Amino acid sequence: MTATTLVTGGAGYIGSHTVRALRRQGRRAVVIDTLERGNAEHVLDAELVIGDIADEPLVEELCKRHDVDSVIHFAAYKRVGESMENPSIYFHNNVDATARLLDAVRRAGVERVVFSSSCSVYGTPVKVPIDESESIKPESVYADTKAIVERMLQWYHQVHGVRSVSLRYFNAAGASDDASIGEDWSNAANLIPLVMRATLKGGERLQVFGDDYPTADGTCVRDYVHVDDLADAHIAALDYLAHGGPTTAINVGTGVGSSVFEVIRGVERVTGQPVPYDVVPRRPGDPVESYADASLAKTLLGWSARHDLDSILETAYRWHKRQLAKA
Ligand code: WQD
Repeated sequence: MTATTLVTGGAGYIGSHTVRALRRQGRRAVVIDTLERGNAEHVLDAELVIGDIADEPLVEELCKRHDVDSVIHFAAYKRVGESMENPSIYFHNNVDATARLLDAVRRAGVERVVFSSSCSVYGTPVKVPIDESESIKPESVYADTKAIVERMLQWYHQVHGVRSVSLRYFNAAGASDDASIGEDWSNAANLIPLVMRATLKGGERLQVFGDDYPTADGTCVRDYVHVDDLADAHIAALDYLAHGGPTTAINVGTGVGSSVFEVIRGVERVTGQPVPYDVVPRRPGDPVESYADASLAKTLLGWSARHDLDSILETAYRWHKRQLAKA
């Protein structure tokens, strides 16, 4: 039997797009997800095991039964605000459960892990574009759980020989090119699904968190990277490890910064509709600018983003419009 990749959190946003990409390439995948925040319908063409990554006997048995040789680990809570109100569930779910996952897969003979990390481990960057030499200074509990797991993975390499790639995503956005899966805007906190909701759903107005920043148009700048490009980066990281690549952490972004107003103008261009918004005071903790130096991903993984901001907005628009039509 050809080897299989275990995808934790594969019913989530980036996880489901990665499973879809693996299967499109004919690679075997099996998903474990509690469905606490995932959507079973988004797991396409792969077995979904409803369970917790902290359930070591379940994970070990799953790896042996499916001849798992690698893991892509997405399963985690990711709401920055929630993490600052309830740190405990973030340390239990994002850190402790990951240690249990690593012990279970290691006992099953798995030695390659791709980890879903985040640019937020950098905190407020000293300089942009941000490269991997930027100091790690997380400014939220969520970001700290990502930094802690990165360090845990370094130790699992040094002590147990488990090699890993931690992918530091910038701002994931967009939807699958065939609108088969996408982001759930119902409890979204990120900019692009909220702009789409304000524009398409009606009755809601977007809040722009400050237009008095020292940027070209006064709004914050971020690196929006297409979720299908992120999916491809995970597969490239699997191949990097399969060819013996050592443990490392790599930025995954486009290298292009876009402001909040540029996103709003882009949504108006793509949808042909005005975006209803109000400028309100700044949100605490927002870095002025954050965008990637993505050269290491190109060097080590042969990866670079293929989608630009308009492509992100067009796929997001197609997906959310389709969801509205089904509602
Ligand atoms: C983007 C910009 C806001 C909402 C977060 C996580 C980070 C990573 C990516 C997982 C900012 C502005 C937003 C709104 C607004 N996630 N904004 N009105 O904060 O850059 O990063 O997602 O790894 O860990 O922190 O993303 O989408 O919340 O904000 O004006 O209603 O849009 O101020 O400038 P962020 P975001």
